[in-house]
Amino acid sequence: MIVTTKQLFAAAYGKYAIGAYNINNLEQTMGLFRGNMDSQAPFIIQISKGARSFTHKTMLEGLIRAADQVFPDAVFAVHLDHGDEQTCYDCINSGFYSSVMIDASGEPFAGNIATTKRVVDAAHAKGIVVEAELGQLGGVEEHVKVDEANAKLTDPNQAREFVEKSGCDSLACAIGTSHGAFKFSGSQGLHFEVLEQIQKRLPGFPLVMHGSSSVPQEEVARINAAGGNLKGAKGVNEDEFKRAAQLGVTKVNIDTDGRLVWTRVHREFFRDFPEKFDLRDPGKIFMTEYAKFIAHKNEKLGSAGHLEEVRKLVK
Ligand code: G3H
Ligand code: 13P
Ligand code: ZN
Repeated sequence: MIVTTKQLFAAAYGKYAIGAYNINNLEQTMGLFRGNMDSQAPFIIQISKGARSFTHKTMLEGLIRAADQVFPDAVFAVHLDHGDEQTCYDCINSGFYSSVMIDASGEPFAGNIATTKRVVDAAHAKGIVVEAELGQLGGVEEHVKVDEANAKLTDPNQAREFVEKSGCDSLACAIGTSHGAFKFSGSQGLHFEVLEQIQKRLPGFPLVMHGSSSVPQEEVARINAAGGNLKGAKGVNEDEFKRAAQLGVTKVNIDTDGRLVWTRVHREFFRDFPEKFDLRDPGKIFMTEYAKFIAHKNEKLGSAGHLEEVRKLVK
């Protein structure tokens, strides 16, 4: 059942966070649904601009519609990740997405508000909800490239004005994370003090944490042992998700960790079975491993076991 992120956030706020997982293909879609059913968790499917153009935007929609039939008990939102204004309108008009993110975080404050407000007006007219971003994460997103020196933590003093003027339904905050597998060069971590200040100014308002992959060191070691070269990769401590959830984070974005699972499975498979060439062999292992990975994340986020309760609330 496709629901809006707003409905999921109402159920989760202050108690746990909903996992928002990026997908690009069939095997990820199957693993994602299986993992969420195994852990009995509501979830958010994220589709990036790159994912939409990887094959054809209609292909991913078709996969998700099919998964909705194969897993009739699943409760999830379909969300555009890091949209520019035009892609937001495309998704709003598609009739398929229940939620879009407008990422105008690269614009000055007033411009970010104005762009976000235009998208909010178009989305709300169709019952679709909007995530916006204030502050800038380091790392690479599709249309925004920010090096660490220029990353800006969200200014708590701007947060309330931004939300009131833009009308957005949730707010992505920069609190020290970045996208990709190389998040922290030293002993940096999450800025909970910034999160606390934002929550004080926006009590009850759903906050979003991007760049939340934990980049498990065991996964990195296995990839490197199978021929990879990911030296110095480092991520967020997943034991901190629950503290973030208590401070208003209701959506935690995870993409890189899923890519690491894919890379580990395929590198090890072709190292161990150099004579094989049936794509379904590593594909089956990947779906199983991806499902386990999703179930594990949901435990860490606290969303595991909440499916039935959420279903009752959204019906
Ligand atoms: O924030 C970016 C997400 O990890 C999506 O990555 O744009 O390469 O699909 P992508
Ligand atoms: P990671 O690169 O940490 O997985 O972050 C993903 C993300 O924020 C997608 O919007
Ligand atoms: Zn992101």
